[in-house]
Amino acid sequence: MRKIFAIAACAAAAFAADAATYEAKWESLDKRPTPSWWTDAKFGIFIHWGPYAVPAFAPVPEDGKFHWDCYAEWYQGKMLAGKKAFLDHHASHYGKAPYGNFAAAFRAENFDAAKWAKLFKQAGAKYVVLTSKHHDGFALWPSPESPYYNAVAMGPGRDLAAEFCREMRAAGLKRGFYFSMLEYANPLYPAIRDGKPGASALTIEEWNARVNFPQLKELAEKYEADVIWPDGEWDYPSARHCSEAYLAWLFNESKVKDSVVVNDRWGSDCRGRHGGHYTTEYVAEGGSAAGLSAVHPWEECRGIGNSFGYNRFETPAQYMSREKCVETLVKIVSAGGNLLLNVGPAADGRIPAVMQDRLLAMGRWLAVNGEAIYATTRWEDAPAALKEKRVYFTRKGDDLYAICFAWPKDLEIAKTGVVKSVTLLGSKAEVAWKAKDGGVVISPAPLAPDALPCEHAWAFKISR
Ligand code: GLC
Repeated sequence: MRKIFAIAACAAAAFAADAATYEAKWESLDKRPTPSWWTDAKFGIFIHWGPYAVPAFAPVPEDGKFHWDCYAEWYQGKMLAGKKAFLDHHASHYGKAPYGNFAAAFRAENFDAAKWAKLFKQAGAKYVVLTSKHHDGFALWPSPESPYYNAVAMGPGRDLAAEFCREMRAAGLKRGFYFSMLEYANPLYPAIRDGKPGASALTIEEWNARVNFPQLKELAEKYEADVIWPDGEWDYPSARHCSEAYLAWLFNESKVKDSVVVNDRWGSDCRGRHGGHYTTEYVAEGGSAAGLSAVHPWEECRGIGNSFGYNRFETPAQYMSREKCVETLVKIVSAGGNLLLNVGPAADGRIPAVMQDRLLAMGRWLAVNGEAIYATTRWEDAPAALKEKRVYFTRKGDDLYAICFAWPKDLEIAKTGVVKSVTLLGSKAEVAWKAKDGGVVISPAPLAPDALPCEHAWAFKISR
């Protein structure tokens, strides 16, 4: 198999020949079901961490709203693209220092993976996805394909990916890796950011064979990733990235072949069409909606603020409130998706307090209401109009859950069919209800604040 990764041309035919189950073709690969641990999990944590956490800068727009320039992990890319806000900031704070100096200043001296794991557990998350290598090309593990630009060779002097995996596993969390197919400034990467060919001696096929595939293999085999989350795929179609060949290997032969979960970022032709689960990004803020689907598993990723990498210039105005975090999760789960909510640790490895605060609030809410979230599906008959009233529905077997962000008053829900009982999760209080025209009307008596089971939203279980 090594040989196949070593050859430069696409190895699709060779893979098809020895593939046990899946052929190196989208028609075949797309039939692989998303492992149920992931569809049941609903809530994961995304972590963007690397040298960009040193400047931890992106401009905060006047109106405070989301914009593609808000991403602090794009610091190097924005400078290469000549974006003034980044160039000015860099010149005034770091003079002419090259971006690579941030890799030496990225020390991770307060990184404690066990503390991260404890926080993510408390948050109620079930899986965690760490940037193994972002677009700047800095690897968080000692990759032989990146021998001088990684977290053991520079900066921390530690295999951050290994520590991360060990502690997430010990805490019972599934874990995996984000991986960028492109590198902004690697002279061997053939395309430059605006799609014009660069001066590299390598073709993209050779780049994949020499860099991406060996690295993606290491993440699967050495770190036994439960999730492989590629990105930065847009410069080339999947046929040129030879992604089908990699996936056939991953699904047929790798150590993680039965359990691994992948996304849809395998080439410029893939989002919302091929791979594993589909992805959206800052969808509510007008970001990317390519992966929205009523039938296919999908996942929204976003930060708690407007950046993935830590932006220390953001203010409370950019951060979602505790309630907005809970509502974001509920909204997405009720629409059949998973939420991969991002935190951007500081360069020393601490997760900023405001992010911890939001995660802990979500955990408090999930501790009471997890039954209405984990392992649920969307309810096809959910009355769309009730979304306006901030009422969202999930379903588990015959049970429905109506999750209300305002205390309901004679809440009428059509099409439930015959109802046996209505209860409030986390409370023994009686809930008044009556059947009406094949639906139900819920009229719970108001509860005193100290009798409420939780803050933010209340989940009514409708048993049928
Ligand atoms: C993007 C960005 C990026 C971020 C990400 C998360 O397309 O390039 O900085 O890592 O996707 O979804």
